[in-house]
Amino acid sequence: MIRILVTGANGQLGSDLRAIAPQYRNIMFTFVDKRRLNILDTEKFEQTLQIYWPHYVINAAAYTNVEKAEDDQRTAFELNSEAVGAMAHICKKNRVRLLHISSDYVYHPDHDALITEDTPPKPKGIYARSKYHGELKILESGASSLIVRTSWLYSSFGNNFVKTMLELGKTKKEVSVIHDQVGAPTYARDLAHALVQMIQKTESEKIKWSGRIYNYANEGTVSWYDFAQLIFAKMDNSNITVLPVSSTDYPSKVPRPKNSRLSLEKTKSTWGLTIRPWQDALDDMLAEWSKPKNKSWRP
Ligand SMILES: NC(=O)c1ccc[n+]([C@@H]2O[C@H](COP(=O)([O-])OP(=O)(O)OC[C@H]3O[C@@H](n4cnc5c(N)ncnc54)[C@H](OP(=O)(O)O)[C@@H]3O)[C@@H](O)[C@H]2O)c1
Repeated sequence: MIRILVTGANGQLGSDLRAIAPQYRNIMFTFVDKRRLNILDTEKFEQTLQIYWPHYVINAAAYTNVEKAEDDQRTAFELNSEAVGAMAHICKKNRVRLLHISSDYVYHPDHDALITEDTPPKPKGIYARSKYHGELKILESGASSLIVRTSWLYSSFGNNFVKTMLELGKTKKEVSVIHDQVGAPTYARDLAHALVQMIQKTESEKIKWSGRIYNYANEGTVSWYDFAQLIFAKMDNSNITVLPVSSTDYPSKVPRPKNSRLSLEKTKSTWGLTIRPWQDALDDMLAEWSKPKNKSWRP
């Protein structure tokens, strides 16, 4: 039986991993949220490993408030860089593999082409730099690790662009959305399945982990503006008008990449994953979101 410890279990990705866990009968998952394991507490992290002896840690914990990070550099770096580096060292010492999630924000390319994993990172802003430093710390540790860079994550759990649009759609007649940033929306549930499938393939084919980096998003790309239009269309909401605005008209402390179009070729060819189009994933998320659900999970 494969044992996997998931940190940050109450976030979008953590919650979707929890939702899919019962489908994987050969895997024993342990989910720990911030209350049960604050990843800044490195001693507790090691103790947790020594209680559950996982073969793998999926680190779904992170400082993800991109705007707030600009005023809270210290906490963003403590969590996304220092704590992640410490986790990697502890994983190495205890012979546990670390599957870490990073962000398209580390790339911030000057070009419009698809972004491969070889595209040199040029992170801008505190969040992006803290995530990139976290990656470097993992690689420096020599831990057996994989880093998966994802983009535009959304879920029926937590806060995200799709849910913001759904809320605005209930009360507003107009909403302004950026048209000149293009990327790949990623349904956290699809990412969750992909991570587990990577672990299963690692086990069945004895694949070595050596700090390799992979992109993961749903197939296809779209602007935030077109994404918003489709969300309202799928909800049959014709009461709201979506107005296109450019990045320069939208006040933000954070330099946001105009191009977040991730190439998925390396991920698909290495792991044999079938990745569905973002429009199909969005249908499933909206169906999931419409269901009544128990939001009071605690480990
Ligand atoms: N969201 C996106 O659009 C996006 C895009 C690209 C990459 N990513 C990356 O994808 C990963 C998952 O993102 P997500 O959207 O699922 O994030 P999320 O919903 O913000 O979840 C992060 C979780 O980490 C927890 N956490 C915060 N501080 C912690 C600590 N000290 N110890 C333990 N847990 C802590 C949070 O708990 P509290 O809420 O209680 O603080 C939250 O449950 C992250 O690495 C993120 O950087 C996200």
